[in-house]
Amino acid sequence: MQKLIIQGGFALKGELTVSGAKNAALPILCASLLAETPLHLSSVAALKDIDTTIKLLDTMGVKVVREADKVTLDASDVQSFEATYEMVKTMRASILVLGPLLARFGTARVSLPGGCAIGSRPVDLHIKGLQAMGAAIHITHGYIQASTLHLPNRRLQGARYYMDVVTVTGTENLMMAASLAEGKTVLENAAKEPEVVDLAECLIKMGANITGAGTDVITIVGVEKLHGASHNIVCDRIEAGTYMVAAAMTGGDVLLNNVRPDLLDAVIEKLREAGADVKCTKNTIHVKSDGKLKAVNIRTAPHPAFPTDMQAQLMALNVVATGVAKVTETIFENRFMHVQELQRLGADISIDGNTALVKGVAQLDGAIVMATDLRASASLVLAGLVAKGETVIERIYHLDRGYEYLEEKLTKLGAKVRRAN
Ligand code: UD1
Repeated sequence: MQKLIIQGGFALKGELTVSGAKNAALPILCASLLAETPLHLSSVAALKDIDTTIKLLDTMGVKVVREADKVTLDASDVQSFEATYEMVKTMRASILVLGPLLARFGTARVSLPGGCAIGSRPVDLHIKGLQAMGAAIHITHGYIQASTLHLPNRRLQGARYYMDVVTVTGTENLMMAASLAEGKTVLENAAKEPEVVDLAECLIKMGANITGAGTDVITIVGVEKLHGASHNIVCDRIEAGTYMVAAAMTGGDVLLNNVRPDLLDAVIEKLREAGADVKCTKNTIHVKSDGKLKAVNIRTAPHPAFPTDMQAQLMALNVVATGVAKVTETIFENRFMHVQELQRLGADISIDGNTALVKGVAQLDGAIVMATDLRASASLVLAGLVAKGETVIERIYHLDRGYEYLEEKLTKLGAKVRRAN
């Protein structure tokens, strides 16, 4: 298994281009299943989760052509309507094929995702929402078996549906399904994440009638058919945020290009509060810091509040800041897997329920640590960048799921990082 070896103590300096967002690309790739003609995408990052999604779509009969960051998907001849356990267990976002398959073909068989390192993460709201649209759904042998064959014209029926927890992929699945339903669907308490908005923008280009994406009420008036379109995936705000924290922690000076500061308000606010100098234009963010940071309290919540996908990275910042910070995780029940590993580097953290108390230490010491999930791994990289000596991060396949060209990007900014077997 590959590992990442980091020599700490080098300030990050230079320019960086932010990649297309993983969490926007995944639902948009799945949205190709809705269209009768090819969907052309650009800014699709080279990531393991994207490879997995493309492989899944390929098993269904979607013809995929990928060249650099451009992907064309032709779902005019889909033969299989199934996502197997083998696929879904490696990537929970595979559940995003459920809504599109059911809406266009009237049948879908998708494995239940099962457990996951950061909590139980059920998909009950995806299922209940589709049932509200009239789908017949049975759970058998660990699979969600869904059908619309009993419905008028075999089409899902528009419905009003309130999600009692804000769910990002749930909102996306239901929005895609409703795009081809008969009549009007209103999704209440919908997720407002920028990736939901990017998916809605792509669906609209494909012929969907959607209003309200980015607010907590999304209205979709179903159409009979959707067609292909061209769409450029929105920038990855979590990748951007991770490099911003890296610049701040290492006392660096980094200019991020191809970024949307308006999607990162909560993170920018926290970095400024910690003492970093953050300047923005419409498409750039410039982070400068002397590396002397103050502890900042964090509380994760759905967008536009502080994102759970940046919690581990801000935890890493607090580990070496001056003072004591309270980090509260409200989205996932078990998202402190990075704490024990950060402690191996010398961090002073205690956990009480969903809150971690982080007391800043003057210096971390390099050690061997293990990546446990995507963002937890990112926090270990950040800690390794400022730790004394060598930090070895094992199981970095987690990082490859979500950070495009990680070592190349870090090396270009002056970090001493290498991959080894
Ligand atoms: C998405 C993101 C992930 C991010 C998360 C929260 C993708 C591919 N992944 O994950 O990076 O960390 O949003 O911003 O976009 N829940 C239910 N029932 C459901 C669905 C969710 O109770 O049917 C709960 C979950 O257990 C969790 C909360 O809702 O506590 C939010 O989860 P959700 O927004 O669904 O996360 P994902 O969409 O899986």
